[in-house]
Amino acid sequence: MTAGTIAPATGKLGILTPGLGAVATTFIAGVENVRRGHGLPIGSLTQMATIRLGRRSEKRSPLIREFVPLATLEDLVFGAWDPIPDDAMTAARHAGVLEPRDLDPVADALSAIKPMPAVFDPAYVTRIHGTNVKVGKTKRDLAEQLRQDIRDFKARHGLARCVMVWCGSTEAYLKAGAVHQTVEAFEAGMDANDPAIAPSMLYAYAALMERVPFANGAPNLTVDLPCMLELARRQQVTISGKDFKTGQTWMKTVIAPGLKARMLGLAGWYSTNILGNRDGEVLDDPASFKTKEESKLSVLHTILQPELYPQLYKDFSHVVRINYYPPRGDNKEGWDNIDIVGWMGYPMQIKVNFLCRDSILAAPIVLDLALFSDFAARAGLSGMQEWLSFYYKSPMAQPGLMPEHDLFIQQTKLKNTLRHLMGEEQVTHLGLEDA
Ligand SMILES: NC(=O)c1ccc[n+]([C@@H]2O[C@H](COP(=O)([O-])OP(=O)(O)OC[C@H]3O[C@@H](n4cnc5c(N)ncnc54)[C@H](O)[C@@H]3O)[C@@H](O)[C@H]2O)c1
Repeated sequence: MTAGTIAPATGKLGILTPGLGAVATTFIAGVENVRRGHGLPIGSLTQMATIRLGRRSEKRSPLIREFVPLATLEDLVFGAWDPIPDDAMTAARHAGVLEPRDLDPVADALSAIKPMPAVFDPAYVTRIHGTNVKVGKTKRDLAEQLRQDIRDFKARHGLARCVMVWCGSTEAYLKAGAVHQTVEAFEAGMDANDPAIAPSMLYAYAALMERVPFANGAPNLTVDLPCMLELARRQQVTISGKDFKTGQTWMKTVIAPGLKARMLGLAGWYSTNILGNRDGEVLDDPASFKTKEESKLSVLHTILQPELYPQLYKDFSHVVRINYYPPRGDNKEGWDNIDIVGWMGYPMQIKVNFLCRDSILAAPIVLDLALFSDFAARAGLSGMQEWLSFYYKSPMAQPGLMPEHDLFIQQTKLKNTLRHLMGEEQVTHLGLEDA
């Protein structure tokens, strides 16, 4: 595929989010504000980043959105499902992320977004008790209802294309089993109401069947399954995941490559967080936390490669804690204590105290994933999109390969993929002349 054959971004793009909680409403309200000229889309590469093209001496650095044919913010239409029936304005107020000064001017647009009844099962998310829920005899019935919702949403708003970004709660920990190995087994499993098929998988199945790209913002397996990979390839649609890389893990993927680049050792990394939003409440359930913990723990080993550097990184301790602490709401506080080792084995410590706003960091990621997934679809890509691993805590990787966690390698992958798709040369950063 070359630049000449990428379909243009004409018409409206629907962004569907299963989940209309803190992240989804902060994302939607932010886009509505930016459209009206209030506020900047800070944190979004698609809106604010430039991309260098050619040699440094050429001095060509357009904005990504001027280089790549992306849908514009004016062309976006939002839709969601949630077991809680609150419209987006009510949900945003409840989430308490954005101030009234940023919500009130876009109240009309937010109030108009009412969540469609969700496919929800309290066995997978124990802390939420929703009433806005679909009923169906089998999981297949439920998936078919979601497919109908997608078609209706497209028709109602006259959309040219849709993408789906999972912004729903973290589901209970699941390991891939026999039912997830092939599309055939998965479909038989839906007919038999197999308990290993979680609601998020039904959304993913519905999206792929409707040829809607799917991006997974939570650590649930969802599309990180052989059956979904097979379906995505068969339907020629893209998937990516998993778990938005926002606060503490983003920091890890910045600091750990720095330690490794300087060949400094690591004895241990202790991370703890307090968080008081609904996500924190859901993660207070050990089954949901286990899903998150797996996602957070995988990062350091893959970056530091103890198998290549046993003297520096063998057997370091890595502990991650999240504590639900209501007074903080969405304003998470994280502490990291990093025990590092230098010349002659002398110990040193780094302390990071990050007062972060979770959804403020996640919202631009939702926007970028939606726009890049839509672009990838128009560029004829399908299956797993490793170049989007920049945005994920627990990136998907081809079978047999380690996922790439280093933020700077991920950024290079992302930008080089854009250059490649647009028919520009890769930037290699070769240390010769002006390359
Ligand atoms: N905010 C961040 O920085 C961040 C980072 C990484 C991942 N995440 C993940 O993003 C997701 C959303 O986070 P949030 O802070 O908005 O949480 P939230 O609790 O505010 O919102 C999640 C919403 O999903 C809904 N939901 C649950 N099950 C559903 C289903 N089956 N179908 C449709 N909706 C469903 C809930 O009712 C809730 O309204 C969580 O899984 C979280 O772990 C967030």
